[in-house]
Amino acid sequence: MPQRAEIILVDDEEALCTAAEKILAKEGYRVTSLNTAADGLAKFERAGADLLITDLMLPDLEGIQVLKRAKEIRPTVEVIVITGHGTVEKAVEAMRLGAYDFLAKPFDPDVLQLTIARAYRLAELQAENRRLRALQQPDALGQLITRDPEMMRIARTIDRVAASNATVMLLGESGTGKEVLAQGLHAASKRSGRFVAINCAAIPENLLESELFGYERGAFTGAAKTTPGKIETAHEGTLMLDEIGDLPLALQAKLLRFLEQRTIERLGARSEIAVDVRVVCATHQDLKSLIAQGRFREDLYYRLAEIVVTIPPLRQRVGDAVLLAHAFLRRFAQEQRRSGLALSDDALRAIEQHPWPGNVRELLNAIKRAVIMCEGERLTPDDIGLPTPAETNPGERSDIDLRTVRESAERQAILAALARSNENIVKAAEMLGISRPTLYDLMRRLAIR
Ligand SMILES: Nc1ncnc2c1ncn2[C@@H]1O[C@H](COP(=O)(O)OP(=O)(O)OP(=O)(O)O)[C@@H](O)[C@H]1O
Ligand SMILES: [Mg+2]
Repeated sequence: MPQRAEIILVDDEEALCTAAEKILAKEGYRVTSLNTAADGLAKFERAGADLLITDLMLPDLEGIQVLKRAKEIRPTVEVIVITGHGTVEKAVEAMRLGAYDFLAKPFDPDVLQLTIARAYRLAELQAENRRLRALQQPDALGQLITRDPEMMRIARTIDRVAASNATVMLLGESGTGKEVLAQGLHAASKRSGRFVAINCAAIPENLLESELFGYERGAFTGAAKTTPGKIETAHEGTLMLDEIGDLPLALQAKLLRFLEQRTIERLGARSEIAVDVRVVCATHQDLKSLIAQGRFREDLYYRLAEIVVTIPPLRQRVGDAVLLAHAFLRRFAQEQRRSGLALSDDALRAIEQHPWPGNVRELLNAIKRAVIMCEGERLTPDDIGLPTPAETNPGERSDIDLRTVRESAERQAILAALARSNENIVKAAEMLGISRPTLYDLMRRLAIR
């Protein structure tokens, strides 16, 4: 029994509405009837509904237009049209435009019940389908390749906050995996809608507003048809605002308004649409300094920064560069059907020593290119585009090795102590048996934030 099904019925015949309401209420549906297309659509935009039933002959607008508008507002809604005498052709057109079924006047109560029950069942099945599809999306966090304690802590944080609606801010240098984590957050959230990303830096300022908020037909020259914006497209899903630091101030105000009210108004529209999206934003810029320069709104910052995740650059992750290099090599070697390929010892050392300013993306591209270019079975530093690490004489090497070993042991212990103490420096120093200034000193030297 569809207990909570919400139906909007648009028909100018008062008697028909009353009769249909009565029949459907008995079946457990909640019906709101409205007598004009304008009222019906306004209610639908505001509150949504599982089903929309509309007469094809309305005083203010053709039912066909109501169908089109409703599908624009929520492409997933099922619409049933009501046909009177002489509108059978219109009913056929309505079906062609995506109406689920039609009802001929006067209704037979049984036919009405049956048609509604089937349409509602279909709407339910489709919603279930979308939910299952979202579940099946490969778990992006599972694809995150890392062995670094800080990155693993971040993956756990993402997993934990996924189910909430909290806005997440991902900070990190270019190529550190902000988009990978944003997609992981969406997958783990099990939200039924889509993951939609928009890069605020890549779209010219004058187009960005309509990209985000959408526009009505005729809102400006060239607006040939009503188009929903990215925010609306992400309804019931996740919206990633990439390079948020590049959002122009005027749009920052509009975005803040959306985050506070959770409704949008398309350009040229007279009504608001409620949108349910989880927002993730990302930037490689220092937002605090943009705020100090007056280029980023502080109030928007606090709206967006409900949960802040700072992704460490690749050079600060323990062992990740080599781990990722092996994984990318496997992936690309398979793609290129060159399964015998391996990394030479020199290449491994070169990868470890390189600071990777372009982070994971730079490493990924380097390995991809190397797999295509390499002639032998062993990738050399040259194939990867890195200098061959200088040969060290035996005496020097053991010294360097000891230092490397000690530094890596110190780093592991400090990271573990910070994790166990929940980043409490006093407690971490206690666990490590050193003073607080010494810990700060070591952290600075080992580039641990
Ligand atoms: N830990 C990881 N494991 C596997 N692949 C990764 C990892 N991190 C990043 N990648 C891959 O590296 C590339 C760059 O990652 P991504 O696009 O998420 O970076 P970004 O932080 O969004 O960069 P930018 O700031 O330049 O947009 C992608 O192809 C991504 O799949
Ligand atoms: Mg990105």
